Amino acid sequence: MPSFRVETPQGCYDAIVERGIIGRAAQFVPARAGKVFVVSTDDVWRHQGVALAAGLRDVAHEVLYLPGGEENKRMAPLEALAERMVLAGGDRASVVVAFGGGIVNDMGGFLAAIFMRGVPVVQIPTTLLAQVDAAIGGKTGVNLESGKNLVGSFHQPIAVLIDPSALETLPEREYRAGLWEIVKAAIIREPALFHFLAERSADVLARKPEAVDRIIADSVRMKCEVVTADEREGDLRRILNLGHTFGHALEAETAYRRFLHGEAVAFGMRAAVRLGERTGHASAADAAQMLELIERYGPIPSLEGISAERLLARLVHDKKTLRGRVHFVLPARIGAVEVVAGIDQPLVLDAIRFALS
Ligand SMILES: NC(=O)c1ccc[n+]([C@@H]2O[C@H](COP(=O)([O-])OP(=O)(O)OC[C@H]3O[C@@H](n4cnc5c(N)ncnc54)[C@H](O)[C@@H]3O)[C@@H](O)[C@H]2O)c1
Ligand SMILES: [Zn+2]
Repeated sequence: MPSFRVETPQGCYDAIVERGIIGRAAQFVPARAGKVFVVSTDDVWRHQGVALAAGLRDVAHEVLYLPGGEENKRMAPLEALAERMVLAGGDRASVVVAFGGGIVNDMGGFLAAIFMRGVPVVQIPTTLLAQVDAAIGGKTGVNLESGKNLVGSFHQPIAVLIDPSALETLPEREYRAGLWEIVKAAIIREPALFHFLAERSADVLARKPEAVDRIIADSVRMKCEVVTADEREGDLRRILNLGHTFGHALEAETAYRRFLHGEAVAFGMRAAVRLGERTGHASAADAAQMLELIERYGPIPSLEGISAERLLARLVHDKKTLRGRVHFVLPARIGAVEVVAGIDQPLVLDAIRFALS
């Protein structure tokens, strides 16, 4: 099964895509580790805990639960867990195993970053979104009252264990939301994946193992390459934000309740494709194929009642706005994007209106 290397100044590690790897999780805990703390949620543990308990049967470990949900992705639950870890004998030799969706990966990773000034973390993502995105790259953190992911740290894991069989219990809506991040990977850097997603959509949607494993492996490889290259190429990592500038505006406008992240990204990609075409970066034929692929994994839930003008106003305040200029990742061809700034607002508004329609 494929394994992909991530190399960063902070550390090097493998992201391994393998059915059943959760069952041999113990092999990825360093031999001299102290107490092992599994950070998860009730929900994930109920669905997938048996597999990890078996995988860690030879390692002394304790399972700690986070409340789950974006509204609980905050500092307070982490402080409570850190206290529990100290009482349970945690020290600088402890290891955290973050076992769950992107929220658990972000929070468990951040807990590991700050507990005793930093202990190792093994990431075991259990949602499609987390397997292809959140668990790789070392971005960890929590939300503030003022906004998402405003407190955090870069803390690279020592291993990322990606077990596609864990997705068998994932609800359909969560699965589809994750697929849109894979469509994103295809549009920005992976033409072969793009064509596979177009030709084999029935197998992908039916979660046929061979198709699921393939699209996960391609996306994981792409993310590992971008994270590794970013240090040398400066802002390469920015291309991962295709659809995210528009998507974040939609998520914020609807208070993170109405759409899943991947659904907002699908909306955002529609807007980015339109903008790419209208600004002459993408051909009409490529743009049509991209829109068709985004649609194929849909539909996006109803966007009724959302104001294009309000989304535009939010875009201008996006935290990724650099010195007042909004940067857009725009598709150029299937498998290639460009980062563009200084686009006239009427064009941006047109793209938002198009994506809302
Ligand atoms: N660090 C990064 O680079 C990065 C990248 C993308 C997203 N994120 C973050 O990821 C978070 C979203 O992650 P998410 O979409 O995975 O949401 P999530 O963590 O809330 O998980 C979604 C739901 O699926 C359930 N679940 C998880 N695994 C399951 C399984 N195998 N079977 C059944 N149910 C399961 C969870 O309990 C939850 O209800 C956001 O907070 C976002 O900011 C981080
Ligand atoms: Zn995303």
